[in-house]
Amino acid sequence: SDRFTFDPGFTSTASCESKITYIDGDAGVLLHRGYPIEQLADKSSFLEVCYLLLNGELPKADEFAKFEKNITYHTMLHAQFDSFFQGFRRDAHPMAIMTGAVGALSAFYADSINVDDAREREISAHRLIAKMPTIAARAFKYHMGQPFVSPRNNLSYSENFLRMCFAVPAEDWVPNPVLTKAMDRIFILHADHEQNASTSTVRLAGSSGAHPFACIAAGIACLWGPSHGGANQEALEMLEEIGSVENIPAYVQGVKDRKYKLMGFGHRVYKNFDPRAKVMQQTCHEVLDEIGHGDDPLLKIAMELERIALSDPYFIDRKLYPNIDFYSGITLRAMGFPSTMFTVLFALARTVGWISQWKEMFEDPQRKIGRPRQLYTGPTQRDYVGIDKRG
Ligand code: CMC
Repeated sequence: SDRFTFDPGFTSTASCESKITYIDGDAGVLLHRGYPIEQLADKSSFLEVCYLLLNGELPKADEFAKFEKNITYHTMLHAQFDSFFQGFRRDAHPMAIMTGAVGALSAFYADSINVDDAREREISAHRLIAKMPTIAARAFKYHMGQPFVSPRNNLSYSENFLRMCFAVPAEDWVPNPVLTKAMDRIFILHADHEQNASTSTVRLAGSSGAHPFACIAAGIACLWGPSHGGANQEALEMLEEIGSVENIPAYVQGVKDRKYKLMGFGHRVYKNFDPRAKVMQQTCHEVLDEIGHGDDPLLKIAMELERIALSDPYFIDRKLYPNIDFYSGITLRAMGFPSTMFTVLFALARTVGWISQWKEMFEDPQRKIGRPRQLYTGPTQRDYVGIDKRG
């Protein structure tokens, strides 16, 4: 039909107007509400970036204090929620647990699912930002067969999260400040990225009027795919599979022979470099130096792979550069997370982007249910044939 355009994979269709995140893929620019990602990663905190994404401006001191109080107020999970985790197999992937747990939030917090009430919309946004670290840490602890650690509200967002992951209950344990800073920066780098597949999923789900817990669960499900957020786990496993610098040329040949992709490379929008990857690489070095793993063999493989890929015509011609997922795995592994947790950490951080985009979509006076069209290529009309007459 000439009534609509055909754009598989949405390579040239803008699905919405947005004031949240700007990307210039050729120049490697990423701005949140106008602020460059490098400045936010260097000077801000994840919770401040949450406020910025949600509300459009950096908070003044009293606004931040109120926001932080609201978020810490909601960090606990309903006691009954713990039994929910017990229903999963111990070897369940933490992303499977997280998708289920976030979907189930509406059953526990039904008092904030009326999307037509602005106050309830705000409470559900705060609840999601506050409870994701608790859910993610419980998914981790359950997976590791360890007891849950309750949130501590006198700690910063990232400090509390690391404590819930790595302390034992009631232990007076505080994480290393360099690792806390790295965690916070990793969260900032993942906070939003305009209309990627999972965010578009959240907007599409929300366009029907579905409540935010359901929409974010849909976003998490989409994020898990290896072309999207699942790439961080796959990128680390790829480095482990390569095993040593000598094996790189043969592996790269396999990529060129199209046997597999170089995970953590390439991006739909960035065709020059991914500005998040640059900050991530620096954070990776800081973390490895801090814990004395500066000579991590995986880091050597990663750096050599990057060097070869950036000088090889196959990758140059296709404008393939390391993306955010390339160095995040080595960093998170050094911090003590198993690779199965990497996408969970991405989901935790992206929740603020999803909910900010959901809010913007919901409050847009032009809001309509999302309803893409299609090019039908199936059979033309034909008559039903009884089973005994089918040839
Ligand atoms: N390794 C080898 N070749 C690649 C790769 C790669 N990682 N990515 C793209 N190509 C090739 C692809 O085969 C194609 O070659 P040709 O033109 O000869 O057929 C060309 O580059 C263009 O690729 P495309 O598939 O049309 O690009 P896209 O915009 O549809 O896909 C992508 C973008 C990110 C899905 C893809 O680059 C990819 O699968 N990368 C690996 C997975 C990954 O790291 N994903 C994380 C993305 S960043 C953050 C996130 O969402 O998590």
